[in-house]
Amino acid sequence: MREYRRPVQWWRDAVGYQVYVPSFADSNGDGWGDLPGVTSRLDHLSDLGVNLLWLSPIHPSPFADHGYDVADYLTVDPRFGTVADAERLVAAAADRGIRVLLDLVPNHTSTAHPWFRAARRSRDDPHRDYYHWSDGDPPNNWVSAFGGPAWTRDELTGQSYLHLFAADQPDLNWRNPAVAAEFDAILRTWLDRGFAGFRIDVPHVMSKHPDLLDNPAIPADLVAPDERGRVEWNSFEHLYDRDQPDIGDIFRRWRAVTDPYDAFLLGEVSLLDPVRLARYTAPGALHACFWFGLVRRGWEPAALASWIRSAATDVPGLVWVLSSHDRSRAVSRYGGGAVGRRRALVLSTATIGLPDLPLLYQGEELGLDDVHIPLDEAQDPLVRFGGGTFARDAVRTPMPWRPGPGLGFTTASRAWIAFGDRGPADTVAVQAADPASPLSAYRRLIALRRASPSLRSGAVEWLDAPAEVLAYRRGDCVVVANLGVSPQSLALPDGTWRVAFATSTVDGVVPGETAVVFRRE
Ligand code: NOJ
Repeated sequence: MREYRRPVQWWRDAVGYQVYVPSFADSNGDGWGDLPGVTSRLDHLSDLGVNLLWLSPIHPSPFADHGYDVADYLTVDPRFGTVADAERLVAAAADRGIRVLLDLVPNHTSTAHPWFRAARRSRDDPHRDYYHWSDGDPPNNWVSAFGGPAWTRDELTGQSYLHLFAADQPDLNWRNPAVAAEFDAILRTWLDRGFAGFRIDVPHVMSKHPDLLDNPAIPADLVAPDERGRVEWNSFEHLYDRDQPDIGDIFRRWRAVTDPYDAFLLGEVSLLDPVRLARYTAPGALHACFWFGLVRRGWEPAALASWIRSAATDVPGLVWVLSSHDRSRAVSRYGGGAVGRRRALVLSTATIGLPDLPLLYQGEELGLDDVHIPLDEAQDPLVRFGGGTFARDAVRTPMPWRPGPGLGFTTASRAWIAFGDRGPADTVAVQAADPASPLSAYRRLIALRRASPSLRSGAVEWLDAPAEVLAYRRGDCVVVANLGVSPQSLALPDGTWRVAFATSTVDGVVPGETAVVFRRE
């Protein structure tokens, strides 16, 4: 295999943005967001200053997990448009200096994928080994991240297949070289179509222990539910169903395919242990991973400051996210309303100069809260498969573009998902005209990063600060985020420093729950 060692670094200059395609903009009035809709709204993204888009999955899918159940990796689901629409979007984005990442879902397919349809027909089918099959019902104690056993018995052949998510999402067998070869072709196809790289879904679970060993159980009195209320998943040490030592082989193979395109590989690795996470961004592996420390937890000032500092120090290649389509929005997690908006902006400011790049989830620039959708109206499979206590619909509702019916998202009277209770002040149109809105603040903050090479390159020097304060210098900028409630006066490094951005008025001291970017005169 040829090795490409050319460093790929354009993405270090980027500010990213996640477009949740079904809920971004509907161009044809059918209630579903689509690719021409995204193209029609690119000006919002350039005005915001982002230059890297990640599109949530656009492939044909039964939508059992909102597109993370792919039935064909090479085309586009008609509800989102066509391959030509995707190419037009990429070209229109390039005209604005924006690159586009495709969401790649390599751990599992849909049960509707032709590979799985063939595989389940007989034990001898040539596609059988694309998946994990085993005797026993179930053959080990692995559980699905969505609840229940990770194995489902298929009556036709009398064996069970593995699915670490829903039963509609059978896991691919990455020890089969034929699977790896299929994905080489998939990667090339989308890079040839102009995509700049991939956001890779759960890469850390692609490699499983070859002997499918039982995961050690955790004693019941030590098990705590996570932020989604999951207990079963947390009752095991996930030693054998993910994160195996050979996982890097897959990434090295991908890099040989993607480096000639200068493509960016961004992993959705949900591990928080810096040592384990750093293996995924080691030289020759993925370029970067999201860091989910800020997405998982609420407002815990001292812990947040120390996590950010240790992750930024110990893991090369991080993408800083506060929200996503999977978790409660930052504003809601941090207290909701004006309090949550203030805190979310403080953390966005705190991370604006950290390596390697920040990424916003659609609507974060508007300071949106979660919407309330009764669980019995939820679309999310986590409700259908996971005991009915949590649904991600609250963060997946349509983007509010302007006040009025359909929110400027659609001309249809109903969207594929509830609109939620968005008010005029939540919309892009109203916020764009208000210099004090979250949108105006995010535009100024992002513009500052784009205009300041110091905030994007060079070493980060941590400054001494109390436990609830994060303070660092990067070149001719200093970022100070006071996450606590007491005002803090800080000794800045020698020189004359001017406030370039502040989340509230700063006068000698940094007030509580305030972040500031200083620039040297
Ligand atoms: C992570 C995705 O972000 C989530 O939406 C999905 O349900 C799982 N991976 C399974 O693909």
